[in-house]
Amino acid sequence: MSTPSIDQARPYMTALTTELIGSGALRTRPWTDVFGNVPRHLFVPRWFQQETNDRGITVWREHHGAATADDLAAVYCDQTLVTALDPDTAERVDDTAWTGIPTSSSTLPRLMAGMLEDLNVQDGHRVLEIGTGTGYNAALLSARLGDHLVYSVDVDPALIHAAQDHLSAAGFTPQVVPTDGTQGYPTGDLFDRIIATCSVPAIPAAWIEQSKPGTIIVSDVALGVEGGLVRLEVDEQGRVFGHFTSTAGRFMAARAEARTYAVPQRPERAAETDTRPSTVTAADIRTHYPFRLVLAFHLLEAEIVYHIDDAGSTALQIQGSDGSWARTPLVGDGTGTVTYGGDPGLWAQVEDAWHWWNNAGRPSHDRFGYVREADGSAHVWHVLDGTRWDIPAHR
Ligand SMILES: C[S@@+](CC[C@H](N)C(=O)[O-])C[C@H]1O[C@@H](n2cnc3c(N)ncnc32)[C@H](O)[C@@H]1O
Repeated sequence: MSTPSIDQARPYMTALTTELIGSGALRTRPWTDVFGNVPRHLFVPRWFQQETNDRGITVWREHHGAATADDLAAVYCDQTLVTALDPDTAERVDDTAWTGIPTSSSTLPRLMAGMLEDLNVQDGHRVLEIGTGTGYNAALLSARLGDHLVYSVDVDPALIHAAQDHLSAAGFTPQVVPTDGTQGYPTGDLFDRIIATCSVPAIPAAWIEQSKPGTIIVSDVALGVEGGLVRLEVDEQGRVFGHFTSTAGRFMAARAEARTYAVPQRPERAAETDTRPSTVTAADIRTHYPFRLVLAFHLLEAEIVYHIDDAGSTALQIQGSDGSWARTPLVGDGTGTVTYGGDPGLWAQVEDAWHWWNNAGRPSHDRFGYVREADGSAHVWHVLDGTRWDIPAHR
């Protein structure tokens, strides 16, 4: 099948748009019109679907955007389409499948729609997008505002090159530039809106310098074990203030290298100390996204990893920045216990966070505020009772 025309794709575009309206992701007429008219298949000529192969390994199976009618239908499903794999970790396992860490994707349409609605663009706004990827979102913005008002940057020049081709095939010419978006994109004029489709550990100073008072920033902020989308407004003093949005979603992290993620430097893991009963299970942590966000506020330097023991049982492990760790099994008899090494206080903080979240009535993620002060310090708070957690300024 050669690349389908827009008319051939139209029924799929209409069906996806109707689904996005039904799910509440598309809420306004201008964005509904845009999603109904920008052909996603021109932006994903090749993508990878996650599979578990017969050896139990996760692999990425290559698909061509419009090779078959089924592929065309898949491109217009409400699903994330992985489009690039880190060449340092990608290994070919058969003719059309690779292992590896994704470095680019076409974002889940309902997430993209929700973020664009949250961005609240108005006619005439200049917008900067961080994370061009396939160029699809830059096309959506161009269709809404006009190409001359849209700037989009990606750290990977190869992706920018491909995005330029996709955009021109779809009839759009926004400015797309290969650069590290954590430095924004200085153009001389300030932006009215900034949207990031990769996560950052903190709102970069450069984004604020390139904003006006009243500029709205929508971005994923990564805070260790969890993170989330924030919608923030820049004020006259260069402070950005707002809250986590009801649109929930996470993005791949911003990286400094074009093609690959740096290998994290981890301290030597502490020796096993003890096992004890726990009031929090792995299921509690895995099931409740807002709780994981609260856990991130309590444990800013930690991460969640999965530990597989010699018998093949998997445990959720909290990994502290000093080498301390604490883990609890996903299933089986041990789910009410924690085994730990190093600081016993690490798991005690998990339990404190769990009790705080339950005592506060299990607030959802959009019940938390986020502010970055002009000096770079930041904190989050629970909007109902004002409980506050500081986020180190260096994040
Ligand atoms: C989820 S994809 C973006 C999807 C894209 N908006 C689209 O419509 O296809 C995230 C993108 O962020 C890019 N990225 C990662 N680190 C970056 C950085 N420091 N500056 C700019 N882009 C970055 C990745 O290369 C990747 O293409």
